[in-house]
Amino acid sequence: MKKRVISVLLALSLVFAMGCGQTGSSESTVSVSENVTVSEENETSVETTETSVEEVIEEKEPEEIHLKDIYAEHGLKVGTCLTPSMISSASQTQLITSQFSSVTMENAMKPDYIFSKKRSAESGELTIHFNDDMIAMLDWAKENNMAVRGHTLVWYSQTPKWIFCKDFDPKGEFVDRDEMLKRMESMIKQMFEQLEEQGYSDLFYAYDIVNEAWMEDGSMRKDNNYWYKIIGDDYLWYAFYFANKYAPEHIDIYYNDYNEQFKTNTLVNFVKTLVDEDGNYLIDGIGLQAHLYTSDDLTQYLRTVETLGATGLKVQMTELDVCLGSYQKFLKADEDNLKKQGRYYYNLINGVLELVDSGKIEMDAITFWGYCDSMSWRREGSPLLYNAVNKPKYSYYGAAQMKELAGFNLQEE
Ligand code: GLA
Repeated sequence: MKKRVISVLLALSLVFAMGCGQTGSSESTVSVSENVTVSEENETSVETTETSVEEVIEEKEPEEIHLKDIYAEHGLKVGTCLTPSMISSASQTQLITSQFSSVTMENAMKPDYIFSKKRSAESGELTIHFNDDMIAMLDWAKENNMAVRGHTLVWYSQTPKWIFCKDFDPKGEFVDRDEMLKRMESMIKQMFEQLEEQGYSDLFYAYDIVNEAWMEDGSMRKDNNYWYKIIGDDYLWYAFYFANKYAPEHIDIYYNDYNEQFKTNTLVNFVKTLVDEDGNYLIDGIGLQAHLYTSDDLTQYLRTVETLGATGLKVQMTELDVCLGSYQKFLKADEDNLKKQGRYYYNLINGVLELVDSGKIEMDAITFWGYCDSMSWRREGSPLLYNAVNKPKYSYYGAAQMKELAGFNLQEE
């Protein structure tokens, strides 16, 4: 562990009684410009207005810092998405297991990859069959003591068309509403049963039952959404009704969406409809994908987190990444922009942790959508915590809540 001296100018207004006032610990030297006042009780106090602090901070080597320990102090797991190539590389495995405590499969558990067309056609029943990548990653998670988020079942995208068709023939007609509801129930039931039978259920703590069902204008997603086309408006209620029926107690069931800061009221109104006849929620949590940009309004975002948390449901950030720039224009990964990103991550996580620590929201995990820029689906925006050679960026230190390394100019603060 190295020690480093930094100069910090703090604008403080501190009042302390002489004798008790101990400016600075054994690791700090402080020069104080002070106004001495005598209080009515004749106690001398020192009011400091501007304090120049030369502070020795502990600078840890990256391998001594573990996000998972930092987040655990707030009762949170911290996750990354996972791909087959990550678990076949010793260095990546090492990095992931030392930093993270949870994983979400980037693709292998999406609807495109969890069904067997052949078995479905043979049995006449939509059939789930775990693919080799999924099994390899679940075995890896088990061996490495990683918790798993399930992602995802009912989605308009990355879903094979044949699951909606008569005889599972993609060129055939769509089945009717009753048959599609049966298929929905059966696939949700099979997923949780097979996880149990194959010994993986205990790894899971959360599952995205439905992904991306709402639009920014408050309407339900209709384009290319065969679930909606065949079943109708109440397909979302049924998805949670079935998930609530078949998911074991220890797996929280989630609705997950992006642009949550622009859909906040829609989502609040939506989850209110996910109740049984006694008014009890059929859902446990709302997943905020948190695909953000450094130009996004942080105050607005934190308000969204708080508002969604005020529904009484859990909230998680499930796919966090913060691109440099804006939706319209990415910025280049130069020193200034990377520092800005570091500060953004610091302030975002700091704000969320404040909501968690004050009990305003119930959150048990934050998942980053990967950890290193070169493997990100949004790599042009350099959105993650490590650069292409797996060196931690300012954003990493921001996420680790190490302000002095996160790109702030503390001298000017
Ligand atoms: C959405 C999905 C994720 C993933 C990303 C792109 O956010 O929820 O599963 O497909 O898009 O990687």
